[in-house]
Amino acid sequence: MIDLHSHLLPGVDDGSRSVDQSVKVLGAMAQQGITDVCLTPHFPAGRAEAGLPVAHERAFTALREQAPAVPRLHRGAEVMLDRPINRQAAAIRSFTLGGSRYMLVEFPRLVAFDIVNNALSQVSAMGVIPLLAHPERYSCCSVNAVRHWKSIGAKMQVDATTLLSAQARGQRARQLVAEGLADILAGDNHGDDRTVATGAHFLKAQDGVEQVELLVVRNPAAILSDQPVAPVPPLAIRRSWMRRIKEFLEGGR
Ligand SMILES: [Fe+2]
Repeated sequence: MIDLHSHLLPGVDDGSRSVDQSVKVLGAMAQQGITDVCLTPHFPAGRAEAGLPVAHERAFTALREQAPAVPRLHRGAEVMLDRPINRQAAAIRSFTLGGSRYMLVEFPRLVAFDIVNNALSQVSAMGVIPLLAHPERYSCCSVNAVRHWKSIGAKMQVDATTLLSAQARGQRARQLVAEGLADILAGDNHGDDRTVATGAHFLKAQDGVEQVELLVVRNPAAILSDQPVAPVPPLAIRRSWMRRIKEFLEGGR
């Protein structure tokens, strides 16, 4: 499995606070079968022109010295599109995922549908493929909204652990997978125990073996190698999902 969204670059954002904490999490991820992790610290679009800060380079050097060989580490950022990114900045590949054309982007939680539209269109027009982090988090997210965002070139990263949430965002996350609108899953680990493996197990229990292979292996690998992602077939998520979650949680302890 490949996890393209994590806050494990130590001490640079609200994620892992130290090299030790990140190393511990990476070790646990290796045990779960995660082979590759992209480090994606929060990064404001307004500062993109200057490239990644020196503090990120220092943190990466320190982490690399202590990190296990597996999972392999890739660089990137989670770019907050609360203001337009300029064309020159969009050409910089240091904060795209693994140096590819794919840029992980996020918005403030209460963002309006049109703001997302405009920002995603603008980024796409610059030759960058916006990969929208946790679309289910935004209240303006709906099946129709996501269909539109995808029609203008964006890809969707659903949070793996949110798939198990009983809240509205959990329902939206399951709906996106059910409709075949999610392109990848990711853990969004902040130095805690969130992992892409949770979503993979949940969807496998829903007979989604083919979808899991695409969402956590083939499509994230395609992104890292700057190739197009493959369409993910819709997956009927049964109404008994709550029981399944309970079984999963009980089985995992
Ligand atoms: Fe994140």
